[in-house]
Amino acid sequence: VSTVPGPAALPFAELHLHLEGTLEPDLVLELAARNAVELPFADVEDLRRAYAFSDLQSFLDLYYANMAVLRTPQDFADMTTAYLARAARAGVRHAEVMIDPQAHVARGVPLEAVLEGVDEALSTSERDHGVSTALFAAFLRDRPESEALDVLHHLLGLHAPIVGIGLDSAEAGHPPSDFARLYDRARAEGLHLIAHAGEEGPPQYVVEALDVLGVDRIDHGIRALEDDALVQRLVDEQVPLTVCPLSNVALRAVDRLEDHPVLAMLDRGLNVSVHSDDPAYFGGYLDDNLAALTTSLGMTAGQRARLAENSIRAAVLPADRRAALL
Ligand code: HPA
Ligand code: ZN
Repeated sequence: VSTVPGPAALPFAELHLHLEGTLEPDLVLELAARNAVELPFADVEDLRRAYAFSDLQSFLDLYYANMAVLRTPQDFADMTTAYLARAARAGVRHAEVMIDPQAHVARGVPLEAVLEGVDEALSTSERDHGVSTALFAAFLRDRPESEALDVLHHLLGLHAPIVGIGLDSAEAGHPPSDFARLYDRARAEGLHLIAHAGEEGPPQYVVEALDVLGVDRIDHGIRALEDDALVQRLVDEQVPLTVCPLSNVALRAVDRLEDHPVLAMLDRGLNVSVHSDDPAYFGGYLDDNLAALTTSLGMTAGQRARLAENSIRAAVLPADRRAALL
């Protein structure tokens, strides 16, 4: 019996994952019933049919609407645990996950409830699922920076178990430079800095995320390919780009998986890794994304191994855990 792990056992780090984007239709309906929340869907099939999108905003509308079912710490813990169990089966050994605090506070759910539930699930994950974890608070770029600063201040006051901040939601018309003070504050607190850029927004937003916000990683970044000088810079500086193929196709940033640039990016020397973004909404988890790349783009074992290694190297990990996963 061979004890050499096959490619399926390659450890991956999931670095681009919105916890609220892991709410599967079944769980949406279960939590709606538990909390007596009325949803505009007759049944699970009706809800499933709503998971078809034309762009980022059409997805965000459903994503925010479904959050209405998240009320108590238990709801957040159940959502997070369901994700971690599924991620472990996908080969994820370390997960850096985002939560959108403003989306919950704005609905009257206290920050304390969100953090309590999420942290309960994350803090037992390595023991229960073999998946180490880290939490990022993502701020909504289509809301004012002043609100983000208030929420960050509140998070810090609560000693929230976050390792960093991110920037997400509707990108077009909301440049990273609008959040310079937020990132300055987070940097002063020693937090790690990431931001979505170049998903639907122009290459210039990737430049701003690097130069104005000073981020350590770019979420998505695929539109950087429109600017050769920027691509060269990203190669030279080895900026990690957390790319999400099924997401890009579901939101029509890329027409078909066969057209997805991720493997070409890898072969051009960019520091890319592959992640699932909002797996409940976009057709799959990390394993599904990798399987799609194998089927549609002929991903080789060597490319798969580089994606795995890039993900571990770009993660926020203590040296001993990183060494164990490489
Ligand atoms: N893009 C931007 N904001 C988001 C996403 C996304 O894919 N998912 C959740 N918030
Ligand atoms: Zn995302």
